[in-house]
Amino acid sequence: MTLQNDLLLRAARGEKTERTPVWLMRQAGRILAEYRAVREKAGSFIGLATTPELAAEVTLQPVDILGVDAAIIFSDILVIPEAMGLPYEMIEKRGPLFPNPVQTEADVHKLKIADAETDLGYVLEAIRITKRELNGRVPLIGFAGAPWTIFAYMIEGSGSKTFSKAKRMLYTNPELSHTLLRKITDSTIHYLHGQIRAGADLVQVFDSWAGILSPEQYRIFSLPYLRQICDAIQEVPKTIFAKDAWFARAEIAQLDCNTVGLDWTMDPVESRKLVGPNKTLQGNLDPCVLYADFQTIERETKKMLEAFGPHRHIANLGHGVYPDTDPDKVRCFVETVKNHAN
Ligand code: CP3
Repeated sequence: MTLQNDLLLRAARGEKTERTPVWLMRQAGRILAEYRAVREKAGSFIGLATTPELAAEVTLQPVDILGVDAAIIFSDILVIPEAMGLPYEMIEKRGPLFPNPVQTEADVHKLKIADAETDLGYVLEAIRITKRELNGRVPLIGFAGAPWTIFAYMIEGSGSKTFSKAKRMLYTNPELSHTLLRKITDSTIHYLHGQIRAGADLVQVFDSWAGILSPEQYRIFSLPYLRQICDAIQEVPKTIFAKDAWFARAEIAQLDCNTVGLDWTMDPVESRKLVGPNKTLQGNLDPCVLYADFQTIERETKKMLEAFGPHRHIANLGHGVYPDTDPDKVRCFVETVKNHAN
């Protein structure tokens, strides 16, 4: 099926676009009353994520309600540990919890390499339903967590400011760390291939905890696995978003990816110099700008668009939209990008 709006894909491939495409990380979620209603019906976050019809429904909401140029499949990066044999819970207002985090060598060996069709079939089915219902309106983004970020949750057992248990493992048992990172990487490659077969038009890898590693640790424990993923996925454009990894931008630019995601601490002009001309940049408005009045949002969004320039840019926030953001403010951001002539 040909897409009616393929701005995102053209921008990712470095082709000319009439205007800059725009979407938001975490656009399918709590900012929308319509999401909260479906989430209520599902009973829980995991119930929602594992019911393909409902997951598809909330995936489509931001396309209809916010007017974004892409849908991102409603799921979570933590479905991979679950598929490998490490179940999680989502605690209201606190976030994810793994009741039995990975601690020993035996724990690592017990984990399986996830199979997309059998272990994550519910996500693939949600993608197929979403593609059908999108009917070519906009592209659908698939995603996964970066191996290091998934490793961090599997060892730590929950969110953390420091992820010191996970980092302790890197320093005290690097060999076991690599064994686990390899298993996560293999699972992730199977999973992303499954998403692409089901219809994902582009994939994004979230390295949300990149910034807590030193540059050297990042080179040892994250980049090689991102490289394996980028090399394995050749069917669709790929985006790498490594939050707070300002130190790794030039190295990420050496990966076989199309787009490098930037958070709001990264200057667009400096980032372009580090990344070079052959990648698309995605980002990077501070999500807190959306707490300001409409005029300020418009001004800051235009400032961002000017800083990136009209080519090889996908407009987004520098991280996921915060749940207490007014959807009208999000619409203001989206409309400002759409009305900005290239
Ligand atoms: O972007 C989208 O709209 C698609 C959906 C999506 C979710 N999680 C749904 C979600 C995506 C792309 C993610 C990715 C994700 N999940 C990341 C990487 C991006 C980032 O934010 O850095 C991470 C680190 C997670 C892990 C995770 N999931 C945490 C830490 C939490 C709790 C904190 C929070 O935001 O509530 C979640 C829960 C989660 N994932 C929610 C949603 C909509 C909220 C839970 C709910 O609705 O009950």
